[in-house]
Amino acid sequence: MERLDKVLSNLGYGTRKEIKVLARSGEVEVDGKVIKDSSFQVDPEKAVIKVSGETIAYRKYIYLMMNKPDGVVSATFDNRDETVIDLLEPEYQTFEPFPVGRLDKDTVGLLLITNDGDLNHKLISPKWHVDKVYYAEIDKPVDESDIKAFEAGVELDDGYKCMPARLEIINSSEHGAEVYVTIQEGKFHQVKRMFNSVNKNVVYLKRIKFGALSLDSNLQEGESRELSNEELILLKQI
Ligand code: URA
Repeated sequence: MERLDKVLSNLGYGTRKEIKVLARSGEVEVDGKVIKDSSFQVDPEKAVIKVSGETIAYRKYIYLMMNKPDGVVSATFDNRDETVIDLLEPEYQTFEPFPVGRLDKDTVGLLLITNDGDLNHKLISPKWHVDKVYYAEIDKPVDESDIKAFEAGVELDDGYKCMPARLEIINSSEHGAEVYVTIQEGKFHQVKRMFNSVNKNVVYLKRIKFGALSLDSNLQEGESRELSNEELILLKQI
C-alpha cells in the first residue's frame, strides 16, 4: 500500500501539496469514491484511481528507447555534462530511471533507459549473450583479416581477450571504411579499443540494435519514447 499523494506525484500529477489541494477539491477518486484525504492508502496496482474523471495509467516501471545524441553522458548525474536523463520529459524523470549500460559521450544511437533493476542486470550481463550491433566509421580500410581477428576474439590494450565478435564490411577503401560490429560484451570503450587493437580508429559510432530491438528511425537524436508491449516482450525474451 502507498500514500495516494505519493502515487500521484510520482506519476507527475504535481507536488504533494498540489495533490492535497486537488484531493480536497474532490477531483480524486479511488474505486469510484471521492477521496479528499491525500494521505489515503492505496494499492496502485489494483485500485482504479481517477483524477478529474480520467483513470490514471499506473505503472511501476518504465522502459524507454532513446536515440542518444553526441555530447551527453550515459549517467543519471554529472557535475559537468548534460546527462541522458536530463533530456527526458519530467513525466519520465519522476520514475527515477537510469541507462542500461553505457554509451560513450560521443557515441550516438540506441540507449535503453528504465527503472527496472532486474531487467537492467540481465541485459548488461555478458552471460545472457545480448547482441549489440553498432554501425561504425573507421579511419583506415578494413578487410578479411580484421573479420578473422574479431571472430577469434581480439586482445585489448589491457590484455583482456574479447569474446568473438562479428564484423561486417559495408564498404572499404584507402580513405576508410563503414562497418557493422556485433558484440555481446560492454567493456569500457569496447568497440573503439577493438579497432585500436588492429591499428585502426573509430571515427563515428552509432548503436543500431540492442538484443531484438532496433533503433526507431523516427526518433531524432535526443528523443526517446516508451517501448511498445511487443518490444518489451521481445526484450524480455532473452
Ligand atoms: N564501444 C565503444 O567503444 N563505445 C561505446 O559507446 C559503445 C561501445
